[in-house]
Amino acid sequence: MKKIAATFLSSKHIAKDLVKLNVTDVDYIHVDFMDGKFVKNKTLPFKELKNIYRYTSKRLDVHLMVMDPKKYIKKFATLNTEYISFHVEVGDKIEEAIKLVHRYGIKCGLAINPSTPLEVLDPYLDKIDLVLLMSVEPGRGGQEFIFDTVDRLKELKKTIKSKKLPIKIEVDGGINLETKEYVKDADILASGSYIIYSESFQDAITQLR
Ligand code: DX5
Ligand code: ZN
Repeated sequence: MKKIAATFLSSKHIAKDLVKLNVTDVDYIHVDFMDGKFVKNKTLPFKELKNIYRYTSKRLDVHLMVMDPKKYIKKFATLNTEYISFHVEVGDKIEEAIKLVHRYGIKCGLAINPSTPLEVLDPYLDKIDLVLLMSVEPGRGGQEFIFDTVDRLKELKKTIKSKKLPIKIEVDGGINLETKEYVKDADILASGSYIIYSESFQDAITQLR
């Protein structure tokens, strides 16, 4: 069965949304963290964001949209974190950062933007646990699903299968009842708006699975 990672969208409602998500069977809380450099937007600083542990007992699926992943890996490793993903577009510091995540006993993901060729992932595929395939441009929730993702997902799945690698694929952005049908091959779906703006978080999560 597909796993669901729910993300909370507005800083104002973090506590409320997290408390409501905590009583659902959602698998992970997807934590979008932005440094204002890799993407224009900035999220709450870590010293405030870390308080999410007060409102949720769910494992975290951390998505770092930052230029310097190492700086934040250390911080998020102190929380109840299952996955830490950072972007393959950061370039040269990738291998080191993958090792650092693993040194903390946390699974490591590489996130890839919609316009980045999938081949960029190749040198790292045997070193990671997850590919976070972006189906919107990173930076904010509530955007429309980019349909190229459907072919990219197929291609990525094929590569992973042919190399017999145990990598999971998570699709992130614009997931709703219509678009989930196109990404059936994904192992995990990250969803923000669809869950958060629905009347029943649990019903929305069940429908997305
Ligand atoms: C985009 C984030 C996504 C996004 C998901 O920068 O990485 O996780 O918030 O939200 P929806 O489901 O609203 O596209
Ligand atoms: Zn995300």
